[in-house]
Amino acid sequence: MVYEVYLRSFADGNGDGLGDVPGLRSRLPYLADLGVDALWVTPWYPSPMADGGYDVADHRDVDPRFGTLADVDALVADAHALGVRVVVDLVANHTSAEHPWFRAALAAGPGAPERSRYFFRDGRAGGSAPPNDWISAFGGPAWTRVTGPGGPEQWYLHLFAPEQPDLDWTSPEVADDFDATVRFWLDRGVDGIRVDAAPAMAKVPGLPDAGHPPGASFASSEWVGNPHWDVDEVHEVFRRWRRIGDAYDGDRLFVSEAVVNGPERLARYVRPDELHTTFNFDYLKAPWDAGALRTVVDGTLAALAPVGAPATWVLSSHDETRHVTRFGRERSGAAVMGFDDAPPADLARGLRRARAAALLTLALPGGAYLYQGEELGLPEVEDLPAEALQDPTWERSGHTARGRDGCRVPLPWSGDAPPFGFAPDGVTPWLPQPASWASLTAEAQRADPASTLSLYRAALRLRRELPVEEPLTWLDLGADVLAFDRGPALRCVVNLSARPVPLAGLGRVLLGSGTPGEALAPDTAVWLAPA
Ligand code: GLC
Repeated sequence: MVYEVYLRSFADGNGDGLGDVPGLRSRLPYLADLGVDALWVTPWYPSPMADGGYDVADHRDVDPRFGTLADVDALVADAHALGVRVVVDLVANHTSAEHPWFRAALAAGPGAPERSRYFFRDGRAGGSAPPNDWISAFGGPAWTRVTGPGGPEQWYLHLFAPEQPDLDWTSPEVADDFDATVRFWLDRGVDGIRVDAAPAMAKVPGLPDAGHPPGASFASSEWVGNPHWDVDEVHEVFRRWRRIGDAYDGDRLFVSEAVVNGPERLARYVRPDELHTTFNFDYLKAPWDAGALRTVVDGTLAALAPVGAPATWVLSSHDETRHVTRFGRERSGAAVMGFDDAPPADLARGLRRARAAALLTLALPGGAYLYQGEELGLPEVEDLPAEALQDPTWERSGHTARGRDGCRVPLPWSGDAPPFGFAPDGVTPWLPQPASWASLTAEAQRADPASTLSLYRAALRLRRELPVEEPLTWLDLGADVLAFDRGPALRCVVNLSARPVPLAGLGRVLLGSGTPGEALAPDTAVWLAPA
């Protein structure tokens, strides 16, 4: 199981209200005790923080707000001593606008070789309109016009924020430099690399229009033949990196973030000579519905079998509404990256379902990714004051989409008032924590056997101990019930119906997400040892 550390919000070691590497290092025993196999840590690189660190100004260093390279070395050493691996986040589709390459490109002017590492193009309509109809994931056009010494000139491409100009991966210099970056981190002993925005890294030559209708959203899971997403040439990059990774000792892992159209397109990222695994966003985006979830599970396993890659299962991340909140809504599927305007949730129902979903997720064959705080049952913080919002989505959407800050609120560790042990007392965290989180701290839950933290700890321990087998075998307990065996050691039953499901004859209960009983209550799950 890989645990996503959203570094800014995990633990603040230096008292500036922002999480950092020493803070994370001090909490490693918690993660080892939880039963984490590996950490994926979000970017710690020097960054102006226009997109929370996904705007990287130097890929081979650490931002002083997050620590130093020596802190990273110490983190990796301590993690390894605890049997925990470390995966770093590689942002290679774009750089920060403050990256020396982009500054040089701006300074050099139209037509200069310095511009060939990015996409600079003349505008249409005599220069005043963007070069094509491509859109940004954070809203609005994917092009921004440069103002040079003589006035407005070319436009540059950014599929994310304007502070994140896209790199042109046909430039040999770009590819060579990222080879050096991959080696830099693998040489430091990290165990893997998470590839940010993987499907963005190749564009159709000539940059033709995508045909996006006016006001289109960045619905990449629906796009077919899009010229700026999931373009076939992108796979050359991953083959190149895989060759580098394979030359290292140990099992170095590449995992991609790839929101693409269906499991067959996704499977292309994990062909034997490409990345090892990829996040499964179809699972994350699925509503709380037995049919929909089963379709995703079957579709995922069927698509990955031919390429021999393990599945991954993920319910939440730093980009999506926390699933306690999502599952408490009528429309429980995930929205696109912070564009979530769904009505308020029934959080008690959401938590019941989230606990059941944890047992489902951890029983499925393959790897699971947990997002920090889901083991505490944290909900999305939906009432952050507008002036606290930092996600570029808020500005880019003209204040219509609040963005992703609500899932990024710093973790509550201990105590009964903010900063809840996230930072030294008296320090204000970079996003305000709700006072109601006093009952959700790791400390409070550690002592309570019925807590969500205790459920995750027990499930992760059993998951390691039980001799589960591939593949999964479905049982038929009714249309709204997901039930399957993983060999003779583990049976998982999840009740998504509105009625209790009798458990008699199904086996001995090992662990349940709800109150133990003769029957499985709606929105709960159970692990059994089949009789
Ligand atoms: C990925 C990250 C997200 C970031 C984007 C641009 O989707 O997960 O947080 O905003 O890439 O780098």
